[in-house]
This record gives sequence, structure tokens and C-alpha cells, in this order.
Amino acid sequence: MTIEPAVKARRDAAAGQGSVIRSVIAGVGAYLPERQVTNHELAKTIDTSDEWIVERTGIRVRHVAAEGEFTSHLAVKASERALAAAGIGAGAIDLIVLATTTPDETFPATATRVQERLGLTRGVAFDVQAVCSGFIFALAVADNFLRLGQAETALVIGAETFSRILDWQDRSTCVLFGDGAGAVVLRAGQGKGTPADRGILTTRLHSDGRQHDLLYATGGVSSTKTAGVVRMDGRKVFKHAVEKLAGVVDESLASAGLTSADIDWVVPHQANRRIIDGVGKKLGLPPERVVVTVDHHANTSAASVPLALAEATADGRIKRNDVVVMEAMGGGFTWGAAVARM
Ligand code: COA
Repeated sequence: MTIEPAVKARRDAAAGQGSVIRSVIAGVGAYLPERQVTNHELAKTIDTSDEWIVERTGIRVRHVAAEGEFTSHLAVKASERALAAAGIGAGAIDLIVLATTTPDETFPATATRVQERLGLTRGVAFDVQAVCSGFIFALAVADNFLRLGQAETALVIGAETFSRILDWQDRSTCVLFGDGAGAVVLRAGQGKGTPADRGILTTRLHSDGRQHDLLYATGGVSSTKTAGVVRMDGRKVFKHAVEKLAGVVDESLASAGLTSADIDWVVPHQANRRIIDGVGKKLGLPPERVVVTVDHHANTSAASVPLALAEATADGRIKRNDVVVMEAMGGGFTWGAAVARM
């Protein structure tokens, strides 16, 4: 893609003044499908109970997309809300990065469906696949575009209809997931290159393909010509998750020049209440600084972090200038963290 002259001028001006481009979070939005499925409802069709699910995961209810409601539909609604929160029109967007494991179609990218429905006729739109870490990966990609001056206003979306790749007879996985979408608008701003800047201060990403068998889908276009269903060794994933997430949060704080004492809010991937608590404990964070939505969203994969961010922003917990640490881990394994000053 070509760098637009105005963007290039901004980048050069920033460099000339000894300042840096920062990707400022200008707005956050979310959308959840209307239908809610409680644990009690699941217990009518599979051998489980509300008590078991709440005790092991903290989940009470999840949203499930209606027939004919696709990932792009959820993504567009979340994006419209993020744009409204940012107070800008869709026409300003020159980059859409959408994280999903459940695209509408094998191709084209769901991001291009969103681009078209938002009425955009310019810019770049593509998908990122890192399962439950997808939003952190997408945020890192968009942040790098902005900091290099290759885009000025980005929409970063995490959107999933994970209900479509669940084996509804497998009680060890189907009770854990839900559908939804969250989006943030990033705008290129200037900073001094210090932790006091507003915007994304750092992103840290990791992958380890050796752990494939612990969390994967049983199919794919190239192998089975079907999407497959989720399979997971929950116990092993659990152990990896606490270690890796605490590690990458520490790493991201060090990279941003901050310590855990500087964190105002942690917005974790919402996989399991016990994982969230375990990471918080390892980092020595007070539980009241951790945003938890897993009880009413369940694990919405790439949508979980922006959904939680949207909730805590909308209800006034997260305020301007707060330091927010977002973290996630997913199949692959993939894992990562982002530190932002709001
Ligand atoms: N309802 C009732 N019983 C269930 C059940 C359910 N929904 N799912 C599994 N069980 C049973 C198992 O069959 C097993 O029974 P058994 O002892 O007779 O064989 C028993 O509960 C214990 O299973 P186990 O898998 O060891 O439980 P656990 O304490 O590890 O909890 C998870 C299971 C999935 C909740 C937990 O391992 C977990 O949260 N892991 C992390 C998963 C995750 O977050 N993944 C996403 C990362 S992006």
C-alpha cells in the first residue's frame, strides 16, 4: 500500500520533533447476540450442571448467534458502536484488522465484508487468525501500521461465532464458549516515547506450534474440507495458560517501562475465572483491578478482550489516562499482551 502524503508528513514531523507516533484508543464498542443460553439450559441436553460449570469456570451464561447471524454481522455492529464512541465517521478508517477463527466464508476475509457494510471504498482490510489471542495479535498489527505511518485510523475487531465449531455433545468444551464481537478505533497521535504517552505503549506476542494437540479443531479446508470442532485437553491448557500469561504480562510491563504497581486495569482473555484469578495472584494484582466478564460472556475467543474492554469503558471503570494491560492465550499456542494508556 502507498503511504498517503498527509500520513508521511505526520510521521516525518514526529521524527523531526523527536516525538513518536502512538496509536491512541479513540473508541471502544461491543455487540452480543440477543439469545442467551444458561448453564441450566445446557444441562437439559448434556450431562452437566450449573454447579459444575460455575465452580470450574465461573461461567453462568453465554450469548449464541441466531441462525443467519454471522461473524461479520456481529463485527459490523461492534464497529459502529466503536466509531460512535470515538465520534468519527467510518470514512476516516483506512485500515481494518479483524481477528477471527470463525470467518463467514473461507474467503474473502470477513474484514472485507465489514469494510463494505460500513460503506468504505478505500483502505486495507484483512483477517488475522490467532484464535483466542487474535485480538492482541490484530492490535499489534494495526499498531505497527500506524507507527510506521502506513495508516492513520484503524478499526481493530475481534469477532466470533464460536458456537458454530463446538461439538454440542462434548461437555468438556461446549459449556465454555460463546459468541460476540468487540472493536476499537485507533488513531495516530503523537507522544514523547515515554510511559506517560497516551496510546498503545507496547505489544508482545508469542507462538509455540509444539502445543497443537492440546487445543485445536478437528478439521480445516485443506485437510477435511470442513471446519471441524473444538478439542481440548483442558487441564494441560490451564497450566500453560497461567504460566504464559503471567510471563507475557511481566514482559510487556518491562518493555513499556512500567511495573505492576502502575497498572490501573487488567483486561484478560475471559476463558476461565480460575485462570484469571491465577494470573492475577501470580502478578500480585488486587482482584478489584481485573475486569471479569466470563460469568456472562463465557469464552468468546478473539472477541473476549475487546468485549471486556468495552464493558469496563462504558460503565466508567476505565478512564482516560488509565494504564490498561490486555492479555490472551489461545490455540497454537499463541499468547500475547498489550499495554495501553487510555
Ligand atoms: N460438566 C460436568 N462434568 C464435566 C464437564 C461438564 N461440563 N466437563 C468435564 N467434566 C468431568 C470430566 O469428564 C471429568 O470426569 P471424570 O473425573 O469422571 O473423568 C471431571 O469432570 C474432571 O474433568 P477435568 O477436565 O479434569 O476438569 P477440570 O477441573 O480440569 O476442569 C476445565 C475442566 C475445562 C473447566 C478446565 O480444565 C479449564 O478451564 N481448562 C482451561 C480451558 C481453557 O480455558 N481453554 C481455553 C483457552 S483459550
